[in-house]
Amino acid sequence: MLSVKEPIKNVWYKMPPHIKHRVYTFMKSRPMEGVITKLQDNDINLKELNALEVFGKNGEWHTIDYGYKVNSLEVWEMDSSCQGPLKRNFPFATVKIVDSYKEIERCRNKYSLIVIDNPMSTYGDYCEHFSLFPKMFNLCDESSIVIANVIPKIDDNIKTEYPYLFNDIQLDKRREFYKTDSPDKLSFEEIDSVYREMALSQQFISEWSFFQKRNFVYYYVLKLRKNIEDIKDSMRRNDFESIDNIRLKTRI
Ligand SMILES: C[S@@+](CC[C@H](N)C(=O)[O-])C[C@H]1O[C@@H](n2cnc3c(N)ncnc32)[C@H](O)[C@@H]1O
Repeated sequence: MLSVKEPIKNVWYKMPPHIKHRVYTFMKSRPMEGVITKLQDNDINLKELNALEVFGKNGEWHTIDYGYKVNSLEVWEMDSSCQGPLKRNFPFATVKIVDSYKEIERCRNKYSLIVIDNPMSTYGDYCEHFSLFPKMFNLCDESSIVIANVIPKIDDNIKTEYPYLFNDIQLDKRREFYKTDSPDKLSFEEIDSVYREMALSQQFISEWSFFQKRNFVYYYVLKLRKNIEDIKDSMRRNDFESIDNIRLKTRI
């Protein structure tokens, strides 16, 4: 019997990116669109953002939802077979086939939108996105937005579907990163405060943040602003109460 899969694949493969984008966004539920709406509600103009997608794949999971709306786009991905599809999907973008963990050490550019669509568990020497922090703050512009995948908890159905999730190594790494005794069950507040504290230690004030559900994975969205002067001033005075106030003041 003649398979219809191949011809459909060929049509999809050759489709111009802007049409592909239309079909794609029409076909699927798009949690990234929810993020975009909330960013716009917070007066973020996407056209002004210089974006970096740290884990690119082909860009069809969600990069395609915002990639056409930003001022510039750079995509990092380790798998060289993704280079062709990435170039086709985003002809205007800078595509780098690199190990993102090594690239983050080399990179001297600044971005105002950094999207970290990391794998969900352990992979190679890494786990979720933990080893990217706090170095990734070096890539943040004076005003920037960081979006990362976070997993507050999983239920038995998810564990059955993805048996490798929350394996012993992942739980240990989560215990260490989120400084918690219950790495399998984190509240949004606990997650939020860990990234905010880390940002503050790198001289970034967290202006606001929110979570957007994908499935059991959520996008964690954090708006940062560099504020060396406030922090330096408080540190000079050894005024830790004031450092705390800066943090609280900017919390939503
Ligand atoms: C969840 S997918 C990303 C999906 C993508 N953001 C999209 O919109 O289609 C994760 C990707 O991370 C890549 N990856 C894993 N480890 C990496 C590393 N060390 N450096 C760069 N890419 C890596 C994998 O090859 C995979 O394509």
